[in-house]
Amino acid sequence: MSQVHLISHPLVQHKLTILRDKTTGPKDFRELLEEVSMLMAYEVTRDMPLEDQEVETPIGRMVGKVIAGRQVGVVPILRAGLGMVNGVLRLIPAAKVGHIGVYRDPETLKPVEYYCKLPVDVEERQVILLDPMLATGGSAVAAIDYLKEKNVTSIKFMCLLAAPEGIALLQKEHPDVGIFTAAIDEKLNDHGYIVPGLGDAGDRLFGTK
Ligand code: PRP
Ligand code: URA
Repeated sequence: MSQVHLISHPLVQHKLTILRDKTTGPKDFRELLEEVSMLMAYEVTRDMPLEDQEVETPIGRMVGKVIAGRQVGVVPILRAGLGMVNGVLRLIPAAKVGHIGVYRDPETLKPVEYYCKLPVDVEERQVILLDPMLATGGSAVAAIDYLKEKNVTSIKFMCLLAAPEGIALLQKEHPDVGIFTAAIDEKLNDHGYIVPGLGDAGDRLFGTK
């Protein structure tokens, strides 16, 4: 079963509370989501392998450490995942970025795919899939299905808020994918929104409502 990593760092929790606040407008929402994503990326990359590398300091030579292993692919689920990309890229600037467009049909709550573009060598990369909201889990599962169809074998899912229902579905469908979240909320409401959540992440990010 996939592990759930709850990122409880005080800076993440503080910023998350401001993101939840309904009076926080799109400008602050965008900035905070980027900042939280950068902080979360620090935790998501904690198990990256290292290798030795010689380095010459102004005083002498030594063997330092550099990141080894797979290169990273950052894949936001459109739209709201876009708000997390720059924060992650600030820590991993060499990462390549793919996009998966999925929206929830408001009636059925089922995911509808409408766009996909991935780095050519995505199957060799450690993919960090981004979406602030894991609600029913349908969008994340559909995005991971698609990545696996493209032979991606190493995937981590990073979100801001997760509902227990979304975690359960993701663990059932993709037990190999680690889940990184800043909070696990109470439940979903009848419209599939996370309670208490933060509302519609895409609308708050882009000011579309
Ligand atoms: C939101 C959110 C997730 C999805 C989560 O996107 O950004 O992608 O809902 O819900 P789920 O876990 O039940 O699938 P939405 O469908 O509103 O699309 P948008 O980002 O284009 O607004
Ligand atoms: N998508 C959102 O943007 N918010 C929710 O609470 C659930 C799905």
